[in-house]
Amino acid sequence: MTKSYYITTPIYYVNAPPHLGSAYTTLACDVIARFKRLDGFDVTFLTGTDEHGKKVADSAKEEGLTPEAFTDKYSQIFRDLTKALNISNDDFIRTTEERHHKACEAMWNKLEENNQIYLGVYKGWYAKSDEAYYTDDEVEVRADNKVICKASGKECVWEEEPCYFFPLSKWKDRLLQFFDEKPDFIFPRSRREEVINMAKALDEKKPTGEPKYDIPISRSKFKWGIPVPGHPDHVMYVWIDALANYITGVGYPDVESESFKNKWPADVHMIGKDILKFHTIYWPAFLMAANLEPPKRVFAHGWWTNEGQKMSKSLGNTISPYDLIQTYGLDQTRFFLMRAFPFGKDGDFSEKAIFERVNTCLANGLGNLALRSLTMLQKSFDGKMPVPDDLTSNDQKQLEKMHGLVDDVRKSIDKQAIHSALDEIWDGVSATSKYFTNQSPWKLAETDPKRMGTILYVTAESLRHIAVLAQPFMPDSMNKMLDQLGAPSDKRTIASLTWEGALKPDTALPLPTVIFPRYEMKELVPQEPKKRARVGNSRMPGF
Ligand code: MSP
Repeated sequence: MTKSYYITTPIYYVNAPPHLGSAYTTLACDVIARFKRLDGFDVTFLTGTDEHGKKVADSAKEEGLTPEAFTDKYSQIFRDLTKALNISNDDFIRTTEERHHKACEAMWNKLEENNQIYLGVYKGWYAKSDEAYYTDDEVEVRADNKVICKASGKECVWEEEPCYFFPLSKWKDRLLQFFDEKPDFIFPRSRREEVINMAKALDEKKPTGEPKYDIPISRSKFKWGIPVPGHPDHVMYVWIDALANYITGVGYPDVESESFKNKWPADVHMIGKDILKFHTIYWPAFLMAANLEPPKRVFAHGWWTNEGQKMSKSLGNTISPYDLIQTYGLDQTRFFLMRAFPFGKDGDFSEKAIFERVNTCLANGLGNLALRSLTMLQKSFDGKMPVPDDLTSNDQKQLEKMHGLVDDVRKSIDKQAIHSALDEIWDGVSATSKYFTNQSPWKLAETDPKRMGTILYVTAESLRHIAVLAQPFMPDSMNKMLDQLGAPSDKRTIASLTWEGALKPDTALPLPTVIFPRYEMKELVPQEPKKRARVGNSRMPGF
């Protein structure tokens, strides 16, 4: 039976347009989902939009729209971005959908049935931008008297309201035991310590004696949310609603369905580091309390800055993925975002960096190697894949190196070390370039065409390995390259990376064309980030 693989992005708040950060998470999941599909897995890749809560309700009001009309409009913008980025998601969930309401109600009822909900009054800090509650120690008063969360820098207001609570304090030991039993639950491992420390504090009390970290899971001051079953004066807290999207997406509450049984627990929830607590503390506790298994892994990636500055709407320096695609091309943008810095760490965007990467690795590197070798095949072999002669030890070494790539790339993808997977593929590109230069087939056209044909065959076969493995990163361009190499469309999976799947001699090849154009430095206009023509949401449809 085909093994299933379930991967999710966070669901995006619809109060602001998508930017580089949201595109990044979705893209990383897309690369992994595409790789797993190529590797024979039955993949379910879920993304979507988070549409309830105070933040969205207030944004709708500011725009003079009903929350329904507002969320319809902005959710579509996120859906459009998935198309523009060539994202291969299997489903797009909206938390305003009926299927999700049903799932949330069922989860709530289960928690209630299991005595995991009690009524109380919340008195404390709330940051609308984060949709999060903070304790006194987590906030500080700024010089302008505003109270801000120390970690996120977001403004907090004092809230007092009747709420239903989840007794998180009681889950401390169970969570710590779970982290101990599942050392691979939190990735990268460097984030584990932080989560374990959070869990160790869960039974602390407020000076009043109340549990400090029990979570208010309903709100009674506004209506834009999923009504609490049996208590219509409360709506569910947006995070319990949002997290539940991951089970709605595979058929909850029908836990006996084939879908739920095969796909839950999810293989990976991909998130940004700012929402680690919700996914590694709240979510496993909610799930265990509702008799469900926690996901197998939560991977928290780092954050992008723009030319050294934090990206924010107020600074006007957010980067529109549409602008990057328009300037550099879709696959070039996908490649750059995944290659710019190690996945899991923070990193900085600069136009110089993208310009250099795209030219060096794609136009001058892989693209040039493919074009030169394929042009030689056209000129000297009538556009047909030559029949290779006996292989020298250099040829064999080169092909063995190519055959070894897949295991390394697979291991990296399974650790979500996406940058390492690209490094490994690019080691293959460098090895092939070196082989091609050292063997210098162009010198043999007159003297030894048979040897020239063998070298070009080995080069083409090496390029096939590279293109198959790089498809998840640059699907269109790599398919174009595989077309130019004469690789049949049913021989582009990971399983085809064997000797049996090798390129067939005598295959007629189409005329090669440039896959990665070279960019001119003059396209870069050095400006202050704020005034830069290609940042902001200038070309974001609908904004
Ligand atoms: N709605 C919640 C998630 C609920 S998941 C059950 C949310 N939404 S968000 O739209 O604010 O953020 C979505 C993701 O974008 C988060 O993972 C966040 O880390 C990521 N990013 C936002 N800005 C980012 C950067 N500058 N860089 C990288 N990722 C960033 O949180």
